[in-house]
Amino acid sequence: MKKSDPHRRSGTAAARLRQTTQYISERISVRPAIAVILGSGLGDFAESFIHADAIPTKEIPHYPRSTVFGHQGRIIAGMIGRISVLAFQGRVHYYESGSLETVLYPIRVAHALGIRTLIATNAAGGVNTRFAPGDLMLIEDQINLTFETPLASPGGGRGGPSCYDAALIGTIVRSAKAAGIPLKRGVYLGLKGPSYETAAEIRMARQIGADAVGMSTVNEATLAASLGMRVAGFSCITNLATGMLPEKLSHAEVTDVANMVKQRFADLLGATIAAIGPH
Ligand code: HPA
Repeated sequence: MKKSDPHRRSGTAAARLRQTTQYISERISVRPAIAVILGSGLGDFAESFIHADAIPTKEIPHYPRSTVFGHQGRIIAGMIGRISVLAFQGRVHYYESGSLETVLYPIRVAHALGIRTLIATNAAGGVNTRFAPGDLMLIEDQINLTFETPLASPGGGRGGPSCYDAALIGTIVRSAKAAGIPLKRGVYLGLKGPSYETAAEIRMARQIGADAVGMSTVNEATLAASLGMRVAGFSCITNLATGMLPEKLSHAEVTDVANMVKQRFADLLGATIAAIGPH
């Protein structure tokens, strides 16, 4: 790489973050209040933004690259009604880079841009036997089995029993009900992946209290809460987890179901953002 290449890793982490956020700030015309991370197959939501500015993440200095099919890799800033939103289309998973800092970078960027509310979304396998593919689940709490943590010292969270904001959960439940959007609630279990779980692992997941299982979100949510952000999370249940059905699970199935529910999911995100308001 040439010396002038903006992607070259140089300077301190703080300097790199400043370069990233400056690059983004100069290319968006709104001051975003809410960040939304759009998971596997769920990126279309950002197409409904008004006055949208889109930046391919591969052009952003120091920004991690995603390699997973179905992750488009763009940052889109725009308005949903009166509310300014920054959407991260696609994310980089831990298994892609093996670096937790890479996974956490979008959170650091959102925080550095002054955003104090985060809505994280993901595709997940249903562990709860009452769930069906296509269900949308509000994450009430999480179990982090990635064996990683973004925290450098104990605690550091907002002090609540969960990193998901209780008041925000109440607001979302009420607004989904008012909009007539069925919403499940439950505990998300985050694993490292990238292999899907075994049937025995899913039985364990159920026994330890998980309702859905996936390969993202838990470390991002922990970091965001520790930085003082209000965090909400949604899982799109794209399949029943391993062992719950006779067929083998495929990534195509995950993106197909995510595609099928994307309108309902977009309605849910729209209702959530409207209920949160411009604050
Ligand atoms: N397991 C892990 N991650 C997932 C799944 C699953 O069954 N479905 C979508 N993401």
